[in-house]
Amino acid sequence: MANPTPSQAAEKHSSGTKSTLTITDNRTGKSYELPIENDTIRAMDLRQIKVKDDDFGMMTYDPAFMNTASCKSKITFIDGDKGILRYRGYPIEQLAEKSNYLETAYLIIHGELPTKSQYEEWEKRIMTHTLVHENIKTFVDGFHYDAHPMGMLVSTVGALSTFYTDAKNIKDAESRKLQIYRLVGKMPTLAAFAYRHSVGRPYVYPDNELSYPGNFLNMLFKMTEIKYKVNPVLERALDVLFILHADHEQNCSANAMRSVGSSQVDPYSATAAAAAALYGPLHGGANAEVLYMLDQIGSKSNVPAFVKAVKEGKGKLMGFGHRVYKNYDPRAKIIKKLADEVFEVTGRNPKLDIALELERIALEDEYFIKRKLYPNVDFYSGLIYQAMAFPVDMFPVLFAIGRTCGWVAQWEELLLDQEQKIARPRQVYLGYGERDYVMMGKSIGSLNCNRRTTRRTT
Ligand code: CMC
Repeated sequence: MANPTPSQAAEKHSSGTKSTLTITDNRTGKSYELPIENDTIRAMDLRQIKVKDDDFGMMTYDPAFMNTASCKSKITFIDGDKGILRYRGYPIEQLAEKSNYLETAYLIIHGELPTKSQYEEWEKRIMTHTLVHENIKTFVDGFHYDAHPMGMLVSTVGALSTFYTDAKNIKDAESRKLQIYRLVGKMPTLAAFAYRHSVGRPYVYPDNELSYPGNFLNMLFKMTEIKYKVNPVLERALDVLFILHADHEQNCSANAMRSVGSSQVDPYSATAAAAAALYGPLHGGANAEVLYMLDQIGSKSNVPAFVKAVKEGKGKLMGFGHRVYKNYDPRAKIIKKLADEVFEVTGRNPKLDIALELERIALEDEYFIKRKLYPNVDFYSGLIYQAMAFPVDMFPVLFAIGRTCGWVAQWEELLLDQEQKIARPRQVYLGYGERDYVMMGKSIGSLNCNRRTTRRTT
């Protein structure tokens, strides 16, 4: 899309005022009028701001993208101050109550809710792509007995690119569609194989008579029985958890998916990068960290001392805080309610009392109030996963299954966006100016250095 000129932008604004930003460079006294579009200015419009003609021009400096929009998107809307999350305009609360994961995934990827026939076709496609190549089993067997399931997932999803070489045709819409079926369909299988390997049990093949979450539970927990009976409450709870994790606009892993995808690599390699980003304790690894933290606290009576230590900078309250939400994470509210339903089946997770006490104390504490730190999606999800018999190491894997539809939607939106190019940020270089090479062990008086330098010999 062409950038509007300042006069075009000015004409467009309804209030009668100009939609432009005037910047005065006090180094030169020169003023620049930049168009404002969607409450943003284009960083490239700053490049004209120079002191000398041969200067590079002005850039913005924004470590960790605190205030930079990297794309235009129509997928997910978040209002962090009000605690609002919508996928394609639909409130997360309505989707969690009325939809299922596969329907929500269709919505996120295609932009609209499916008709009945579209849904049936979509479900059939996804469920017929749940099988993986037999060699993947051999591949998973090669991992060490105590390999982390998330590490295995990152590797195996990346390895899918070697099985589906047609995935390189990223410009072909039909090929993209096929890779999306495969990714959404196979993630639970890869996740379940990683789990079964870690507990030394034989792999269970997908059963397409079951629902998406039911099939996943079957692949995880089936033992010697002829037919594993999926508990409908747990099946629905897992489905809701997948919905809540399905997308979250430009988070660390979506950004990884887009950034790596912008090199036009195949989607399996880009998904491996996204999953690797999710693995970190500040992102999808946080749900496991919450459980470790609750273990460490041990009992309700130790909560005040733990909160005091956090305030003294001796650690973080995991599952609290968010870059975007400065209010209660709407997903955490839904999960808290869901926990009661799950605990009726599984029995109450004793750590819930510690978590509730942590939340109570933190939400009344000046430190957390001032910084607007509220429970996020990871604060309660781990308690449910644990009650459902998932080992802690599997928590980020469950997050990754739900998030796969978001990653592929972000990836496809990127590829179809004419304004996007290979992601390549700039830097502010603060290192040495040019200096001459020094042979190892030699001492020289360099022309470019103020002091005599010796190259280290060790
Ligand atoms: N416990 C204690 N203090 C915190 C916490 C926390 N969980 N989170 C932020 N703060 C403090 C932080 O120390 C800083 O204080 P000060 O202004 O005195 O330096 C202030 O709050 C602002 O924090 P920040 O680190 O600048 O915020 P950020 O936007 O860079 O980080 C975050 C966001 C989610 C990484 C961070 O809040 C955090 O590390 N939380 C714990 C990990 C966690 O739960 N992650 C899951 C996020 S939700 C799921 C997902 O999207 O993956």
